[in-house]
Amino acid sequence: MSDHILIERRGAVQIIRMNRPDKKNAITRAMYAAMAAALAAGDADPAVRVHVFLGVPGAFSAGNDLADFMAVAMGGEGGTEVWDFLLALAQVQKPMVSGVDGIAVGIGATLNLHCDITIATARTAFHTPFVDLGLVPEAASSLLAPELLGHQRAFALLGLGEPLPAERALAAGLIHAVVPEDRLEAETLGMAEKIAAKPPEALKIARDLMRGPRDAVVARIREEGEHFRARLKSDEARNAFAAFLSRKKPA
Ligand code: COA
Repeated sequence: MSDHILIERRGAVQIIRMNRPDKKNAITRAMYAAMAAALAAGDADPAVRVHVFLGVPGAFSAGNDLADFMAVAMGGEGGTEVWDFLLALAQVQKPMVSGVDGIAVGIGATLNLHCDITIATARTAFHTPFVDLGLVPEAASSLLAPELLGHQRAFALLGLGEPLPAERALAAGLIHAVVPEDRLEAETLGMAEKIAAKPPEALKIARDLMRGPRDAVVARIREEGEHFRARLKSDEARNAFAAFLSRKKPA
């Protein structure tokens, strides 16, 4: 398991916490593997009824580790961890809740499209700069975001890379509630406990009906993945990764 993913059980709630604060919770291959394993283990454990994703104060996640992307762009082997995690998100059997504070970039934004309830703080903005990085949307966001938000808001988010602040995300139906920062974890875990207290068989049927068949979502993740892997090696992407990794920070 990755030290950057902390797994905790509180009653019937499994907490999956991204915990790499020095890198704003940028997600490495080991972190994806640990999160996919936690979802599978929680699904297989009858004592677990809900999965919860949390980050650290100010950073839910800055998205995929750009150094990992750069390694692939330069010809390295990408591995299957990212894609295994995305398929796990699409096919998870138990409800997922997320509590999001601050930075929610890339997969740190699109992960929430798979959650049944997302609670965020007012300083949160969902940001998917895929195109600016020479990439394409992932996690079936090219399917789920237009369905949820309508084409124009989805285009602004996924095509233009315009950040979507929490209050607008709430109005658009991407998230369930906006709460103060000091209440985020309590509200998120309270919601998870509320879900865990429901009759699990009936809730599973209701959730499955609302989510619908997974085939189209899985197929879209695979289709996006083919483009994404090719784009990682494009000049547009290489240049964007190099610009980020070599940028000068203000003293
Ligand atoms: N991959 C790798 N490292 C990352 C990262 C990422 N996605 N996001 C942040 N980091 C690192 C920074 O390089 C920096 O490391 P350093 O202290 O060793 O230099 C550290 O995390 C803190 O980031 P910093 O940029 O100083 O924080 P900030 O609050 O000024 O900005 C972000 C935060 C998220 C806006 C900015 O880091 C960013 O744009 N990151 C890239 C996001 C991205 O494009 N993700 C991929 C989406 S597909």
